[in-house]
Formats: sequence, C-alpha cells, structure tokens
Amino acid sequence: MSKITAAITAVGGFVPETRLTNFDLEKMVDTNDEWIRTRTGISERRILREPGSATSDLGVPAVLDLLKKRGIDPLEIDCVICATVTPDMFFPSTANIISHKIGANNAFGYDLSAACSGFLFALTTGASYIESGRYKKVVVIGADKMSSIMDYTERNNCIIFGDGAAAVLLEPNTEGYGVQDSLLKSDGAGKDYLYIKGGGSLRPATVETVLAKEHYIHQEGKTVFKYAVTGMADVSAELLERNNLTGDDVAWLVPHQANLRIIDATAKRMGLPMEKVMVNIGRYGNTTAATIPLCLWDWQDQLKKGDKIVLAAFGGGFTWGATLVKWGF
Ligand code: UT7
Repeated sequence: MSKITAAITAVGGFVPETRLTNFDLEKMVDTNDEWIRTRTGISERRILREPGSATSDLGVPAVLDLLKKRGIDPLEIDCVICATVTPDMFFPSTANIISHKIGANNAFGYDLSAACSGFLFALTTGASYIESGRYKKVVVIGADKMSSIMDYTERNNCIIFGDGAAAVLLEPNTEGYGVQDSLLKSDGAGKDYLYIKGGGSLRPATVETVLAKEHYIHQEGKTVFKYAVTGMADVSAELLERNNLTGDDVAWLVPHQANLRIIDATAKRMGLPMEKVMVNIGRYGNTTAATIPLCLWDWQDQLKKGDKIVLAAFGGGFTWGATLVKWGF
C-alpha cells in the first residue's frame, strides 16, 4: 500500500472590514507612519470591532469559505484544531465553539497554544492524524483577535498586531502531495520576553492585575527580534538541508509576518529572491497564528500543483519551526 500523506486540499480565510492605519495610530500613540513602515513593513491592520465578537467569529467565516471551495458538508469534518492565543474563553476551546457554530457535529476539536508558531504546530499535528490513516478530513485553523489583548495607549505593541483567521483542509493523499517534513522547536527560556502575565493560574485576575495592565501582551521587541532572526532562518535552512533541497528547489517561502526585516533575513539565508516570498504584513500586520494560512489564502491562485513550499515561524514561548509542503491542488 502506498504511504498516506496529508495534502492541503482547500484554503479559506477571513479578515474583518475595519482597517486601523498607521495614520489612525498616529492619533492614538506617539508614533508615525514612516517609523512603523520602515521598522516593520506594516501600513495597516484589520480589527474586529463588533461588540460581543470573538476569535471564533474570525474562524467561522474562514472555515465556511474553505468548505464552500471544497464543496463539502461540515458533517464530513473529523477534527478541528484551532491555533490561537486569544481563545474566546479559557474553555471550552475555540475549536469547539467554531465546530458548533458551523454545524461540524461529527468533529472533535481542541485549541493549540504555540503563539506565532501555532499554525505550524497544529498543521503538523493534523497531518499526523491523516498520515495515521485514522482520519480523513482535518481542519487546521490559525485565528487571533490580537486587538483583544492590546494596550492602545502604549506604542510598542499596538502598531504591530492585527486580527484575522485562515484555515486549511487536510485530506489523505497517496501520490506524495502535502506535508513532507516539519522541524518544530520550543524553548521556555523565552517566556520572559513575550507573554501575558495576568489571568492565568499564576496571577489570576484581580483589580490589581487589571490596574497593572497585566492582561495585555508584553514584548521585549529587541530581544525577540534577535532570537526571531536567527531562529526562523536557522530552522528553515536546516529543513532544506535535511531534505536535500536548495533555495532553487523552493517555489515559495511562507514566513510568519512579524517584521519585514525578519522575513528578509530568512529569505536571504535560504538563498531566495523576494519574488518567491509571500509578504502581506503591510496590509494585515502580525495576526499571530493566522499569518501563514492568510498568506496561503492570499496567494492560492498563484500556487501550482507540485510546488515545494516552506512555511516558517517564530513566536512567543519561544516556539519556532519550519514545514515543507508539496502543494496538492
Ligand atoms: O510575532 C511574534 C514575535 N515577535 C516578533 O518577531 C517581533 C520582533 N520585534 C520587532 O519586530 C521589533 O523589535 C519592534 C518592531 C517591536 C521594534 O522595533 P525596533 O527596531 O527593535 O525598535 P526599538 O524597540 O529598538 O526602538 C528604537 C527606537 C527607540 O527610540 P530611541 O531609544 O532609539 O530614541 C524607541 O523608543 O524607536 C522608538 N520606538 C518608536 N518610535 C515610534 C519604539 N516604538 C516606536 C513606535 N513609534 N511605535
């Protein structure tokens, strides 16, 4: 019997309509369009503004888009994995809520927390379910409502992040298409540089934690930047090497969209010209778990069957990794 691989057979995505531009941010904090564009590559990001809306409201339209494209019923889905650091609630999982909202009543689901690398970790997990032969349709979502954990009075982070979601469908393939290899890493020493301090079991929510702004994201940008540049480039180069590939063999690099300068460094290290690199940070900012699938969503019409694609990420934890995919449709 031929080996089963996990092919990506459809991509869906969603970004909210409301745009938060650099010029809007100039009126909110002490920053300017020129600084943001030259230091990060971002011009605007999307924000989910509707009261009472949550990360699941980003994930639902993304999955519905995917189901429509593939022409399948939600009841056919076996499993939903949602990578997110901004779940609707601590529990139940956002995957569960999304499944309920779309009527995927035969699916089991759970959330996966690996910050900006979440989609790669979830994709690798989902692919293993398919490769085992046990499941036939696994939906992997990257979704984050980053605006819900942002302090819009402090310039360090609010200029970077945005809201969005995208999802892929994984199905068994016997012609070798789909996820080929993954190199995933994490190092808890990174916990001091990118985190939300309050609200967990260590510092449950109190009036003090709220007043101290402990429920917002905290990032030591410079330190994270240093680790991200080497982490994302090293792991991508290592993945190529262990698959006997060079930059010439790669059709596309799909990097996590945290900072254009980190993306540039990774592309250089892999020997890839920027024409082969998916970059949409200018329009969406950093949507954490959603950046990589949102790139696939934006570029899906340009992808050709058989294209070798490297997905690469670095994020909070620290977590980082790279995945090699042979495009299957
Ligand atoms: O996705 C998860 C992983 N996260 C990342 O990969 C993000 C990694 N970090 C970064 O992308 C960058 O470090 C930032 C974009 C967050 C910051 O850029 P930077 O080049 O590292 O800036 P910096 O923090 O070193 O600040 C440089 C200067 C400082 O002024 P002085 O001390 O040189 O006078 C800051 O006060 O820029 C100032 N600054 C700003 N100025 C205008 C910092 N933030 C801003 C701002 N607008 N928003």
